[in-house]
Amino acid sequence: MSNTTEALNAFAIDIEEGLSQSPKTLPSRYFYNDVGDELFQEIMDLDEYYLTRAEFEIFVRQKVEILKAFLGEEETFRLVELGAGDGTKTKVLLAHFMNEQVPFTYSPIDISGSVLELLKATLKEEIPSLKVEPVEGEYFKALEELGESDDTKEVVLFLGSNIGNFDRESGVSFLRHLANTLSKGDMLLIGFDLMKDPKKILAAYNDKEGVTKAFNINLLSRINDELGANFVVENFDHFPTYDPLTGETKSHIISTKKQEVHIEALDKTFCFDAWEAIHTEVSQKYSQAMIEGFAEKAGFRIIKNFTDSNNYFVDSLWEKV
Ligand code: AVI
Repeated sequence: MSNTTEALNAFAIDIEEGLSQSPKTLPSRYFYNDVGDELFQEIMDLDEYYLTRAEFEIFVRQKVEILKAFLGEEETFRLVELGAGDGTKTKVLLAHFMNEQVPFTYSPIDISGSVLELLKATLKEEIPSLKVEPVEGEYFKALEELGESDDTKEVVLFLGSNIGNFDRESGVSFLRHLANTLSKGDMLLIGFDLMKDPKKILAAYNDKEGVTKAFNINLLSRINDELGANFVVENFDHFPTYDPLTGETKSHIISTKKQEVHIEALDKTFCFDAWEAIHTEVSQKYSQAMIEGFAEKAGFRIIKNFTDSNNYFVDSLWEKV
């Protein structure tokens, strides 16, 4: 079976499973097709979406301390990034490390070869002397390969509150698995969005321009395009919630009327009640205590926390124990 057919089958299976549950769910990892990637890029520029700017500010203002902490007693490290994206924030660190003449290698890991090619080309233009060794593939497999290639200390970046899109249990098991692929003394710089004014958080997932709505509803268009479904997207709305007690931010797609949707690839029809909700995404917000518990459960020690001037976001530097 080709990789594309395999991916399409997995997509179909996950959609069938999610829509057969009560309440219905659709996994947020499927947001990111070409349209979804573009919409997420737009989200990061929105006034309401403070996360990206907060993390950018941390890097701009604290790059000197970050480098010092990465180096510790060593002279170099391999900087590994999980889910490379366009590297806007990371470039702040890369440029600083180069200016300081640290002889390090940058290894972005991504499942998309084209994302890596694009990143490599822009880095070659913007920071020509930077040594870039991208690894295409699944995170843990790629990390294992890198670990076997030499014994340089690894510093892994997992930025942008991507960990917040895991539910609590799978977040801990992801980080445990990550710890198991690293050696003692390797580090992880991980971004967490902190609990704050609930109104501020809710606005970040319900922007005035409706970009986040389009991002959420795009999942239905993707099912239409790839699995031959007949969702009428105008009959669905976007509805985020934030629970200040638990820090859980959830996105939902709401069926605004009673309707049926047929999915050809599954040869199945799904019924939606008026105002029935489909849960699509969790974007967890954290307290300091939650972060400490997370690090301990996963097998790391917190070395230092870097926060922005508003205390909205933290990049927490952990060491594998
Ligand atoms: C990728 N991830 C960290 C984003 C978040 O904030 O949960 C995805 C997102 N969903 C809606 N807006 C942005």
